[in-house]
Amino acid sequence: MIERTLAIIKPDAVSRNLIGTVIQRIEKEEIKIVAMKMIRMTKEQAKGFYYVHKDKPFYESLTDFMSSGPCVVMVLEGENVIERYRKLMGATDYKKAEPGTIRKEFATDIEKNVVHGSDSKESAEFEIKYFFSELEIVGK
Ligand code: CMP
Repeated sequence: MIERTLAIIKPDAVSRNLIGTVIQRIEKEEIKIVAMKMIRMTKEQAKGFYYVHKDKPFYESLTDFMSSGPCVVMVLEGENVIERYRKLMGATDYKKAEPGTIRKEFATDIEKNVVHGSDSKESAEFEIKYFFSELEIVGK
């Protein structure tokens, strides 16, 4: 089934000039980028995006980090792309990520973990709408 997911190249990766590296990994998996832009989130916007984590101990620090510099946000499209992109990213905690995954190779911290990807169809729908209008998503 063709799905869409929301991917973010986080501020740690943008500041380390890893945008191209991450995009290359995505394209190598035959995953299509159907929308992309660079943004700088405000603290409030980061809090809204990560609202599901509002009760977690890392919420303040995470939203400070995500609003600390520019991010690249993308909509990815493809067969089973939610799971495929999560596999490509590796586990949230880079220490537990599989060898060859983006986080295993480039993350430096459980928070500064280079990339984000939606974890389900429901969160993909919310997260894509958070950053993109339907007009900004380019199909075939
Ligand atoms: P992400 O996939 O964007 O989803 C939530 C983010 O919270 C996660 O990646 C990390 O950047 C951050 N985070 C910080 N500490 C933790 C933690 N202990 N467990 C999970 N996520 C964490």
